Parts: sequence; structure tokens; C-alpha cells
Amino acid sequence: MRTSDRRRVIAHLSDLHCGHPHFVPEMLETAIQEVNELAPDIVVISGDLTGFGFLPDYELAREYVDKIECEHVVTIPGNHDARNVGYLHFEDLFGPRNRVLHVDGVSVVAVDSSEPDLNEGCVGRGRYGWIRKQFAHPADLRVFVLHHHLVPIPRTGRERSMVTDSGDVLELLTECGVDIVLSGHKHVPYAWQLEEMFVVNAGTVSTTRLRGRVKPSYNIIEITPSLVTIDQKIPGAGRERVISFDPSSREYRKYVSAASGWAPPVENVVVTDHTGAGFGAGTNQGVTDAVRGVESGDETDS
Ligand SMILES: [Fe+2]
Ligand SMILES: [Fe+2]
Repeated sequence: MRTSDRRRVIAHLSDLHCGHPHFVPEMLETAIQEVNELAPDIVVISGDLTGFGFLPDYELAREYVDKIECEHVVTIPGNHDARNVGYLHFEDLFGPRNRVLHVDGVSVVAVDSSEPDLNEGCVGRGRYGWIRKQFAHPADLRVFVLHHHLVPIPRTGRERSMVTDSGDVLELLTECGVDIVLSGHKHVPYAWQLEEMFVVNAGTVSTTRLRGRVKPSYNIIEITPSLVTIDQKIPGAGRERVISFDPSSREYRKYVSAASGWAPPVENVVVTDHTGAGFGAGTNQGVTDAVRGVESGDETDS
């Protein structure tokens, strides 16, 4: 029996990277303002809050997250947050690195997939039983959150730094009846359907560490009994659909931005013309300045 028929909204932000040279403060300000106007039921922040895991990075991230006006904010660390023993600052400023939330028929189980000073992630056998137990709670919608991607993301270059036990985790989550997996790390929004589950990646909300034609964005998930939609929102600019599905039949429709330069050779994909979207007049200068002020370097992790 359904717990609730009302429309529920989850805002999914990832890869803030506060304190990183590519961090663009006004982009995060804009995103938080938009999220507050949206008034979501739950806000999920799926890691990489900081640039390097340093205390000042964390303090800056805490300042921004405190501006989010939502009763239920679920925050976990990413690989950048676990650098330089930064996971201790995470615990001091954000609390436990694994979180569980059961609210109004939605279960959110969020785990820290980071390993200190490594770019790849791991959930680990030791937590499988715990995850199973959390998802045994009755729910209309089960959401699993981690920083690293469980499934490769197209148009992100050479595959690396994903979850080392991804096969086992995917099997576990399907057994648990998980509906949606939320992750970040690759800085590219995308969604896969895998059996009954939708595996959804968010972009970076506030950095210019981007790949190809992708723009900074966060995800907005709207849930009704007949339809779940997942949109990417560019702070201060456009919003476009990533995927939508019927929660009963699992029929889905996937959308690909024309700006991505990828022509999907498969059915069930809608190409949207999103080529005109930019960062918005108010933030272009910040982006330009951030890019200009930084050596590109050879950093390839996310
Ligand atoms: Fe990352
Ligand atoms: Fe990142």
C-alpha cells in the first residue's frame, strides 16, 4: 500500500568543490537560491563538497549548505573530501558519513564510497548487510546514494575511478528493490535503466571542471504515483529532462541534449535542443575569471 500520493521533490546536488580553483561561488549561490524557491522535500548532496578536504574548504562548504532551507538534507563525502584526512573534518562539520532517511514514503540510504587519497570508490562487503537492513523499511520509493558512479557514464573519456565492487553492489541494490541510485563524481549528468532500477548521475553544480559540452548542473527529481521525472538544471539558466519513468510499469523515456553532440542510434531516446543555454548573464564573468585564473594541469580525476 502506498504511504503517500502527494508529489514529492528531491534536489540532487553534487561536486560543489568549495575551495577548488575551479569553484565558482556565484554558481552555487544561484543553485541554492533556486533550490530554496523549489522547496524540495529532500536535498541530497552526493559528495565532493570540497576541493582538497582541507578544513577551510569544509568550513566554506558548511556555510553554503547552511543556506539550504530544507528539513531533510542528506550529505555524504566524495573522494576529494577524503583527501588529506579530510573525512575527519566531514564528521566534525557534517556528521556521520553514512546516512539513512525515511520520510513520507521515501527511503534514502546514503553511503560513503570514498577511500582516503584514492580516486576510485568502494562500498565494501562489510556494509552489504547494513544496506539490506535499511531498505527493509516499508517505502514507496527507495533511493541509494553514493559519490562514485556504479555504471560507466558516456562521454567522460577513459573509464576509471568507479566503484571497485560495483557488480556486487548493483546486484545487492536490485535485490533490495532500490528504485533510484544517485551519484556524482564524473561531473556529467546521465541516467541508465538497469533491470527495475534507474541509475542517475548528477553533474557538478558549481565548478568549471567539465567534460566536452556539458554545463554545470544539479538534478531535480519529481515523484508522483504515475510518473517520476529527473531533470538537470543549469544554475541561472535552462532546465531539461534527463529521464522519466512510470514507477509501476518501469516504462521509461530517455532524453539527450542536442548540445552533447551525440546522435543516439537507439529507440526510446528523445533529443532536445538545448544549445542556447548558458550560465546566465549574472554568472558568465565568474566562469571566465575562474577559468582564466587557473592552470589547466593534468588532473583527470573527479
Ligand atoms: Fe569525485
Ligand atoms: Fe568531483
